[in-house]
Parts: sequence; structure tokens; C-alpha cells
Amino acid sequence: MLPQLLNAADFDTILNGKKVALYTLTNKQGSVAQITNYGGTVVSLWVKDKEDNFKDVVLGYKTLEEYRTNPNAYFGSIVGRYANRIAKGKFTLDNKTYTLATNNGENHLHGGTTGFDAAVWVAKQTCSHTLELTYVSGDMEEGYPGNLAVTVQYQLTEDNALKITYWAITDKTTIINLTNHSYFNLKGEGNGDILDHNLQINAEKFTSVDQTCIPTGELIPVKNTPLDFTKEKTIGKDINANYDQLKIGNGYDHNYVINQTETLNLAAKVTEPTAGIVMDVFTTEPGIQLYTGNFITDTVLGKTNKKYHPRAAFCLETQHYPDSPNKPNFPSVILQPKEEYHSVTLYKFSTKA
Ligand code: BGC
Repeated sequence: MLPQLLNAADFDTILNGKKVALYTLTNKQGSVAQITNYGGTVVSLWVKDKEDNFKDVVLGYKTLEEYRTNPNAYFGSIVGRYANRIAKGKFTLDNKTYTLATNNGENHLHGGTTGFDAAVWVAKQTCSHTLELTYVSGDMEEGYPGNLAVTVQYQLTEDNALKITYWAITDKTTIINLTNHSYFNLKGEGNGDILDHNLQINAEKFTSVDQTCIPTGELIPVKNTPLDFTKEKTIGKDINANYDQLKIGNGYDHNYVINQTETLNLAAKVTEPTAGIVMDVFTTEPGIQLYTGNFITDTVLGKTNKKYHPRAAFCLETQHYPDSPNKPNFPSVILQPKEEYHSVTLYKFSTKA
């Protein structure tokens, strides 16, 4: 099967005076990424399987309208200003306490009520394989201090990676933690669950969480726990184990502490044996959230009219650790006016017979 492109007209509109469209990136291997500047959302990602059939390996919707009316899953979007949770929506910077929306029980999640996933970014497709998105988040937008100018570049590289580069500058001290929230299924979106995918995560520790998914501050060794992916195993092998941490999130919903030896580290490797698609995740970030789609609902059909259900996909969200603003022992997420935020993540695809 060749890549089946979604109809760009179903994304064309003007929102608050800003143009929304669907952009198509390609590379010489025939891979295709379709991305909308609404939320910087990766809508489709077509890569070859071991038999040279193309598969769309990300969940998504076929119209802009469905993204706008179903924001809670964050399918494929850029998440910010702070990806993941901040306890009770509060943090202190320079002796001033800031209050954010509590949109996940008592906590703040993924940037708040209207995060970067719902922003209309200014888009510029600079060539067939590169899309540049910019967004200026105003001072105190969603309660975060400082005007923050963000650029996200999506590139479909010739060696078959979706490369995401983030830059940001601020005019006041602020916090920042950006990620992409793609939901992957290497058998193709809508083709069953991901429990049989083999996963390896380059991490000896994870940040343990309390009942509300906020880190306790401890880094717990994965050894002898169901969270151990240091050696490849299927996602499903231990997902239902009788282990407190797994019950909290109804499956995997945990931040791993990546073993960092270089600037850009291999954080995770996923192999799906039937399609033979392999995805390597490289990142400059210190953490990666494994989320096994535990709360996916089937209220809206996916882009090819298939039902999505819990565990129909997994996310590997590269990031700083959750609740870092309130955890002095975690790597800092503070951005100062004279600094530049810079972060790179690659989802690189290959095949295995
Ligand atoms: C979080 C999950 C959440 C999901 C969708 C993930 O990044 O870790 O807890 O349900 O996003 O919002």
C-alpha cells in the first residue's frame, strides 16, 4: 500500500484571523508526514514495513474539527508550555508563586486549558521535508510568566527520521518543557493494540509517582519491577502485574530517567514483529514518558473510521521530568531571559525481517 494522503481541505480554515492548513512532508524513501499548524499536530506518518508496504503509524483524526472538539488525548500535538504534570498547578520562581489551571484532578497537565496543542502556529514549509512552526505565548498566558517565542521544526530526514527541534526564548524568567504527543502503533493506526510490540528503554530508573501521578521525588531502580525495559520485552508482558505504580495509571504512564552518555541519546527502541517496523527514539532530553494509551476512548472514530480503544497505541514523550518546578533534585526547567531553550528528538524508522 502506498501512503494515503488525507484531504488538506478538511484542515483549511481561519481561526481568530490565523490560517490553518495541513502540510505534507516527504523524503526520498517515500515516507510521508502530514502535519497541521493547529497545535503543530502530526496527523499522519507513513513509513515502509518489511514488505515495502506503507503503514500510517500514528493515531489521528481526518478533520481539523475533530481535533478541536476532542483535545483531551493530545493526539500528535506539541505540548507546552509545560508537558506533563505540575502538582496542584503551583510553582514558585524568584519568590513569586504562580497558579496554573488544574485540569487533571488537582494537578496541572500539558500546559493547561488552552495549551500549545490548541494554538495556531505560524507555518512555513521551507522545502519538501521541512516545516517550521513559530508561536509566541504571551506573558501570563495560562498563568506562565514571560513572553515566550517558540520555534518547532519538523523534518523528515533522508535517513527516515521524523526529527523535531525546539527552540525558545523568553523576556522573563519562566519554566518550559516541550514535547510531541504522538500515539504510535507500528502495525498501523487502528490495527489492534500495542501489547505485542517489543520495547527497550535505555533507563535504569524511573520517577515514582503518588496516587495523582505526581512524582514523589525519588528515582527508583527499574530492576526487579514490571517497569524494567532495560532488556527488550513486549509492552504487554508485565502491564497487568500486581504492582502499585502500574495500578495508579491503569498501565504504564511513567517517566523514565534516560541513561545519558552523549548529547543525543538513544532513549528507546520499539520493534513490531509482524510488520517488521522498528522505531528508535533519540533525544537530548533527560526523561521519556511511556504512556500506553490507557485512557484512549472510542467516542470518535480514527482517520480511517476505525475505533481506537485503550492500548491502541503507545506514546514515548521526550521531556524533563514531571513536576520539576517543585522538585529541586530534578534537572532544571527554568529558562532565563539571556538563555535559549534547545531540544531535539528523533523518531527514526527502519525495518527488520
Ligand atoms: C499523560 C497521561 C494522559 C495522557 C493524555 C500523557 O502524557 O502521561 O496521564 O492521560 O497524556 O492526556
